[in-house]
Amino acid sequence: MAINAIKGMNDILPGDVETWQFLETAARRVFGTYGFAEIRTPVVEKTDLFCRSIGETTDIVEKEMYTFNDKSDNSLTLRPEGTAPVMRAFIQNRLHTLDPVNKLYYMGPMFRYERPQKGRYRQFHQIGAEVIGVESPLIDAQVLAMLHHYFCEIGIDAVQLQVNSLGCPECRPGYRQALTLFLESRLTSLCTDCQRRYKTNPLRVLDCKVPGCKEATKEAPSVLQHLCVSCEDHFSAVKENLTALDIPFAVNARMVRGLDYYVRTTFELVTDQLGSQNAVAAGGRYDGLVESLDGPALPGIGFAIGVERLVLMKVSAKISAPRPDIFLASVGQEATEKAFVLMSQLQRAGVRAEMDYQGKSLKAQMRRANRLQARYALILGEQELQTGLADLKDMDQSSQQQIKLGDLVGLMEGSGSSA
Ligand code: HAM
Repeated sequence: MAINAIKGMNDILPGDVETWQFLETAARRVFGTYGFAEIRTPVVEKTDLFCRSIGETTDIVEKEMYTFNDKSDNSLTLRPEGTAPVMRAFIQNRLHTLDPVNKLYYMGPMFRYERPQKGRYRQFHQIGAEVIGVESPLIDAQVLAMLHHYFCEIGIDAVQLQVNSLGCPECRPGYRQALTLFLESRLTSLCTDCQRRYKTNPLRVLDCKVPGCKEATKEAPSVLQHLCVSCEDHFSAVKENLTALDIPFAVNARMVRGLDYYVRTTFELVTDQLGSQNAVAAGGRYDGLVESLDGPALPGIGFAIGVERLVLMKVSAKISAPRPDIFLASVGQEATEKAFVLMSQLQRAGVRAEMDYQGKSLKAQMRRANRLQARYALILGEQELQTGLADLKDMDQSSQQQIKLGDLVGLMEGSGSSA
C-alpha cells in the first residue's frame, strides 16, 4: 500500500509554493525595513521549555504537543510555536549583550496535535517577529504597524485588528478572582471542559466556542475594568500611538490568548473569510517570559502569522508557477545534442530554458511547450543544423522570426521573464 503523509500535515506543491515564496519574500523585505534580523532555531526543543513558557494548563501543553522520548530518554517536543524557542536562543546566546534592543523574525513549521480542518493543521507554518528589550508602548504600536504594513504589502485587507490588555502580575490576580467568582455563579451552564478550566485557567473560559459557555459569560467582568494604573496608562498609550500611525483597530475586551505568557497588550488579526479559524495572526506582550526562563529581566512583544491561513485568503490572487522563457524542440539525435548544449548556455545566461530529453515526437514536444506555457519555442532539425538558421516562435503572439542559432543566447538574454 502506498504511504501517505500524516493526517493534518500537507505537501506544498509547485504551483502553490510560489505563493508561499511571495509571502516569505515580502516578510523578509518588510521586516528588514523595520530593523528585524532573521533567527532560525531547531524544530525540536526540550519539553520543559514549552511547559514553563506556554503554561501547564493551556490546551497546547495539556493536549496538543508532539512529545516523545529520544534514545537517551530525554523528553523532547516538536515546537508548537516560535516565541519560546526564540527566547531560549536569545538567553543561551546572550543576545542582549550585543544590543539592548533585539528585533528578530522567524519562519517555519510548527506542530500541534489539533483536530485538522480548514485553516487548522497539525503541521502549520508561522512567520513571526519578536522585539526584546523595550517596555515603551511605542514598540507595541510599531510592531502592529509593521504587521499592518505587511498585510498591505501582500494585498490582504479583509482583516480586522483587535486589541486588548490582559494586565500584569499586579492586577491580573484581582481580575482572575472576580472572573472565578462570576463563573462559579454560572457553573452549571458551562461545558465540562470549562467546569474544570474555571479554576485552573478561568480566562480561557471566555474563549470557549461552545454556545452555552458564550451565553453564560456574556455578562462576565471585563479585564479592562481591572487594570492597574500603569497597565491602563500603557494600554491608553498603545491606542493613541496606533491612532497617530493611522492603524485601524477595535478593542475586544473578551480576547484572551491560548498561551499563558502574555501580559498587557494582546492582539489578533481576524477575518470572516475562514470560518471558525478566524485568526490570521496573533500576539502580544510577554514581559516576564525571558526572566521566567532564567534570562535577564527584559520585556518582550511579538506576533506570529499563520501562513496556511494567508494562503487560503490569497487563493483568488494565486501567483502562478514561473513559465519557461523558451522551449527547445528537436528532431533527431544530432539536433537533440545541439539543443542540449544550447539549453545549458541559455540557463547559464539566466534564461529559463526547457527541452525534451526523451526523443518524443515533435508534436508531443510542442504539446508540452504549450502546457508549460513557454514564451518562445525553437525547433531544431537537420536543416537548422546545416544552415545555422532557425525559426524562433513567439508562442504568445503566434508569430515567428528567423534567427541565427549563434545569436539565440544573446537575443534571449534580457528578454525572458526570469532575466
Ligand atoms: P498563536 O495564536 O497560538 O500564537 O498562533 C499564531 C497564529 O498561528 C494563529 O493566529 C494562526 O493564524 C496560526 N495557527 C495556530 N495554530 C494553527 C494551526 N493548528 N493550523 C494553522 N494555523 C495555526 C503563537 O503561536 C504565539 N507564539 C504568537 C506570538 C509571537 N506571541 C508573541 N510573539
